[in-house]
Amino acid sequence: MSRRRIAILISGRGSNMTSLIEAASAPDFPGEIALVLSNRPDAGGLARAQEAGIPTRAIDHRTHLTRESFEQALDQALTENAIDFICLAGFMRVLTPWFVERWAGKMINIHPSLLPLFRGTHTHQRAINEGVLVHGCTVHFVVPELDAGPIVAQAVVPIIPGDTEETLSARVLAQEHVVYPQALRMICDGRARLENGQVVFAEGWDASGVLRSPSSGPLPF
Ligand code: GRF
Repeated sequence: MSRRRIAILISGRGSNMTSLIEAASAPDFPGEIALVLSNRPDAGGLARAQEAGIPTRAIDHRTHLTRESFEQALDQALTENAIDFICLAGFMRVLTPWFVERWAGKMINIHPSLLPLFRGTHTHQRAINEGVLVHGCTVHFVVPELDAGPIVAQAVVPIIPGDTEETLSARVLAQEHVVYPQALRMICDGRARLENGQVVFAEGWDASGVLRSPSSGPLPF
């Protein structure tokens, strides 16, 4: 299978972008990061991408009168760069159905919760407030409904007493950096593919792992 040309769309610091760039620099990675695009010219991730030698573009949404015209500019930049797959990585613009349909099956996102729980924003604080004892992140295909697309990969972390939004988001983010490159690799090499709106996996599963929360070492009972 030829290496897919991938664009990463960011709005901020780009730590997930960096993990994708690092993973894709492995000689056997079945895709190449061909473009990093930001809707914010001041996004910290742009400089990080440039340092890694990746072409970058900033398309400032504030210079466009409508969402549609912004997205047309986005789409044009992607087409000009012969992009065939998009990773959203902290891209803070809601995309219209027009754009999402245009890239249907070719666009994934990472969301900082175990979907379908906690769609939207402030996921870590909401998880703490609800008193759930596990939390995590999800890589999913993008569909017009926000944070609702078919799931490609998830990672689970415990929530521990005393956790704050900061401590919990750091624990989740560390797993985002593992699971996003993994999911992208599986899609690019065909081990995970979208079929009739569902993700189909080529491999069998290891059903032996378990995360208990609370649990640290041997259980006291
Ligand atoms: C991450 O928490 C990601 O899950 C969410 O936005 C944040 C982006 O962080 N979609 P970064 O820019 O990748 O560091």
